[in-house]
Amino acid sequence: MKGIILAGGKNSRLYPATMAVSKQLLPVYDKPMIYYPLSVLMLAGLRDILLISTPQDVPLFQRLLGDGSQLGMSFTYAVQHEPKGLADAFLVGEDHIGSDTACLVLGDNVFHGHGLQELVLEASALQSGCTLFGYTVTNPQDYGVAEVDAGGRLISVEEKPAKPKSSTVITGLYFYDNDVVEISRNVKPSARGEIEIADVNNHYIERGAAQLVHLGRGMAWLDTGTPEGLLQASEFVQVLEHRQGEQIACIEEVAWRMGFIDIEQLARLGEGMRSSAYGRHVLRLADEGSQYPGRP
Ligand code: TTP
Repeated sequence: MKGIILAGGKNSRLYPATMAVSKQLLPVYDKPMIYYPLSVLMLAGLRDILLISTPQDVPLFQRLLGDGSQLGMSFTYAVQHEPKGLADAFLVGEDHIGSDTACLVLGDNVFHGHGLQELVLEASALQSGCTLFGYTVTNPQDYGVAEVDAGGRLISVEEKPAKPKSSTVITGLYFYDNDVVEISRNVKPSARGEIEIADVNNHYIERGAAQLVHLGRGMAWLDTGTPEGLLQASEFVQVLEHRQGEQIACIEEVAWRMGFIDIEQLARLGEGMRSSAYGRHVLRLADEGSQYPGRP
């Protein structure tokens, strides 16, 4: 399965903070926002990732993340010239996907909680159809809203409806079979001029090939698209990290635990950041790991 991170967009709800730089490069507490969705793809075992962003921001992401080899991964980059919609990711990413299955994550989505890795690992084994993740929110009208029958089966998805049919919305993490490219190609732009992912998802639902996995209350799915949301996400990460002495979305740690890099490489990556608490966390892991080989 190939991974795609969509990290462009207008980001206008964060103006003026995002007038010169994309929001996915802004920090959520102590690390760039993009680390959070990237770590989710890594937890799913995906190593071949395409990052899509604006012409101005792609070089900045390249500076931050390079070719991925330092993490035992492969990162490639593509430009989306206009924010044409979420499903445009499959057209921009067509060559990257090739004949494989695909996972799309939005560059501003932060997920955290017990059992997340099991869920995404299972979804990454998908052979046909799609797997979507639902979450209960108090403001469903701002998202793609899921209509679900009494048995919990997905009936339809409606993008930003005035009268939401439920409080369950579709999060920004999607797993698809290879048909997603062809389906996206045939989606007509909506009234707001976007190639809507809701239309792609409804296509799978009509085929009876869409699975909805509900993320329960033990899982956090945070909004980082407004100043309040960004601050709250930072506070959430800060509280957990300080209380537990662990890091959320430390990509070097995830790469090591997933077996993408060895302990020597983990130590090298930590060394370059030893002035920060984040870097010292990486160094501490490398130190502990070398004392207890076989730990991850
Ligand atoms: P949105 O929340 O739809 O939009 P936004 O965050 O860019 O903009 P605004 O503040 O103006 O409402 O986008 C969700 C994510 O997808 C976000 O990370 C931006 C990204 N995106 C693209 O990269 N390309 C696109 O064409 C769209 C629509 C979004």
